[in-house]
Amino acid sequence: MKKFILRVYRGTKNRQYWEEFELEVKPFYNITSCLSDIQKKPVNRKGERVTPIAWEQGCLEEVCGSCSMLINGWPRQACAALVDQILDQTKRSVIALAPFTKFPLIKDLVVDRSKMFEDLKTVRAWMDADDALDHGFGPKISPALQEIRYVLSTCMTCGCCLEACPQVNSHSKYIGPAAISQARLFNAHPVGKHMKASRLRPLMDEGGISDCGNAQNCRRVCPKKIPLTESLAVIGRTVAGQALKDMVSLPDVSDPE
Ligand code: SF4
Ligand code: SF4
Ligand code: FES
Repeated sequence: MKKFILRVYRGTKNRQYWEEFELEVKPFYNITSCLSDIQKKPVNRKGERVTPIAWEQGCLEEVCGSCSMLINGWPRQACAALVDQILDQTKRSVIALAPFTKFPLIKDLVVDRSKMFEDLKTVRAWMDADDALDHGFGPKISPALQEIRYVLSTCMTCGCCLEACPQVNSHSKYIGPAAISQARLFNAHPVGKHMKASRLRPLMDEGGISDCGNAQNCRRVCPKKIPLTESLAVIGRTVAGQALKDMVSLPDVSDPE
C-alpha cells in the first residue's frame, strides 16, 4: 500500500512546531479522514505517542466551512481535499497542513473566525422581519437576479478569501470581500434593499471598500466560485452613489444590483 507523510503545523500561539505522521493512501481518502485516523492512533512518524491533533469539521461536504485550513499553502476545505489527487498533482509524498494565519490561533488547526461573523453584523447581512411584513415575504425576483443572488448565497464564511487577501492583515481594519459580497446579496433582494443605506455606510469608513487593493486573490481561492471581484465593483459603485446621496441628504440609492 502506498504511503505518504502528513506534516502538520501544530501547537498554540506561544509555540508552534511541525509534526509528521505516516499514513497509507486509501481510495477517496480526504484530509479530515486522515485527521480522524490520527486521532484514533496519535503516534507520530518517530513512533512517539502524541496528543491528538485539534481541528474543526461539521458538514463533511464543503458546505459549513469549518474545516478550512492551509493545505500545501492553499486555503481550502479539508473535507474536500482528496489525498490521492494532491499527491498526483504535487508529485510529492508529503502533504502539509497549517492553520489559517489571518485569524487568532486557538490550537493546532483551529482558529477563531468570529471576526467574520461580527463583520456580517456590521453590514447587516440579514433582512428585518418588519421590512418583510411591510413589503411581503415572497416578492417576485427575476430569473436573472435569482441567478446572481444564488451564487452569492453559497458563501459559507469559510475565510479562504480573507486568508488570501493581502489587504487583510494585523495592521489593517479591512473588512474583507466575504462581508462585502453579502452586503451585495442582501441589497439585491426586493425586501433587503430597504436597508441598503445602512449596509453601505459602514463600508464608506476606514476598513471599508476603499481598502481593497484589487489583487483578486479572493476570487481565485473562493471554493464556491463566488464572483468576489464583481461584488467588490458593484458595492464600490453603490457606495459612491450612496455617498453622493448622503451629501445632498437623499435617503437611499436605487441601484437594484
Ligand atoms: S480584490 Fe484583492 S484586495 Fe480586494 S478583497 Fe480581493 S484579494 Fe483582497
Ligand atoms: S466568499 Fe468564498 S472564500 Fe470567502 S468566505 Fe465565502 S465561500 Fe469562503
Ligand atoms: S466539514 Fe463542512 S466544509 Fe468541511
